[in-house]
Amino acid sequence: MSSRNIAVVGIFVVDLSFITEKLPSPGETVIGDNYIIGPGGKGSNQAVAISRSGGKVSLIARIGDDQFGQTGMKLYESEKVSTEGLVIAEGEKTGSAAISIDQHGMNSIVVVPGAANGLTKEMIDQKINIFNNSSTLLTGFEVPLNVATYSLKLARSKGLKTILNPAPYFEICKDSYKLVDFLTPNEHEASSISGINVVNLDTAREAGKKLCELGVGVSVITLGEKGVLCTRGIKDHEGVYLPAVRLKEKVIDTVGAGDVFNGAFATGISEGMTLEKTLEFANKTASISVRRQGAALSAPYRDEVNNLY
Ligand code: ATP
Ligand code: RIB
Repeated sequence: MSSRNIAVVGIFVVDLSFITEKLPSPGETVIGDNYIIGPGGKGSNQAVAISRSGGKVSLIARIGDDQFGQTGMKLYESEKVSTEGLVIAEGEKTGSAAISIDQHGMNSIVVVPGAANGLTKEMIDQKINIFNNSSTLLTGFEVPLNVATYSLKLARSKGLKTILNPAPYFEICKDSYKLVDFLTPNEHEASSISGINVVNLDTAREAGKKLCELGVGVSVITLGEKGVLCTRGIKDHEGVYLPAVRLKEKVIDTVGAGDVFNGAFATGISEGMTLEKTLEFANKTASISVRRQGAALSAPYRDEVNNLY
């Protein structure tokens, strides 16, 4: 393992995605057009995106010893994601997510983490070698919150760069944000953390400042089809704004767009790219992924991104 390695602390689940003209309202049944079974879970999707974008990655995750767990193991073998960080829980079920996707690519998701809920701080300690041999940590809120904050603490104490994707949003002790070098919320998560309703670029700038005031080094708010806004500290009022990349292919599935963004972002940081270059790389990578179906498997490879234009 080289010091370019990225440690991801997250979850793996199997996504059951249902494609339908319109999302069902509560109490409604709709007839769908197709369904797809594929790998999901934010941490796992990020790990695959890191590997495809040219990064080296070890995923720390807890899965069951069932058929879904086997799906994960096969995925990591083919995607060159190191499995030394996996914890296999005997007799437990690997998680799953029920995803509905409408004709505009809009989605709604229920994720059941299953065995991933049993990941503990002690298990993180048992994987200390991964932290010792990595330069960057990427984590989020699908793992138990005490495990996410413990991983940030451990990474900070060992001099790793820390990236927190606060998704899905949960409230944590505000002091924990001081452990974060790069915070990567989407608009909703940025609104919940900052208390500013992010609806456009101006409000994203205000929220970015608030996030930096919490002690975050750099705020990177992803804005879906509008792109991304990065605020490099409390005095960086304008920040760096990049619109999403326009391509001739239609947007068909935005599930995992944030994960692909985070994966490519982590790769850029681990390679020592400038922040501006890293943002451009992650924005391009995620913009390609929304033209493809699936979560993990929608991540493009590095040369596809380099050949974009
Ligand atoms: P998800 O929860 O679906 O994984 P997210 O809400 O965390 O996604 P978004 O802010 O929607 O993340 O998107 C992340 C990035 O993906 C954007 O910053 C942009 O680069 C790209 N992206 C998302 N939606 C589109 C779109 N419609 N067109 C082009 N690029 C997009
Ligand atoms: O970000 C998308 C992911 O969120 C899906 O793959 C689903 O499994 C949920 O974890």
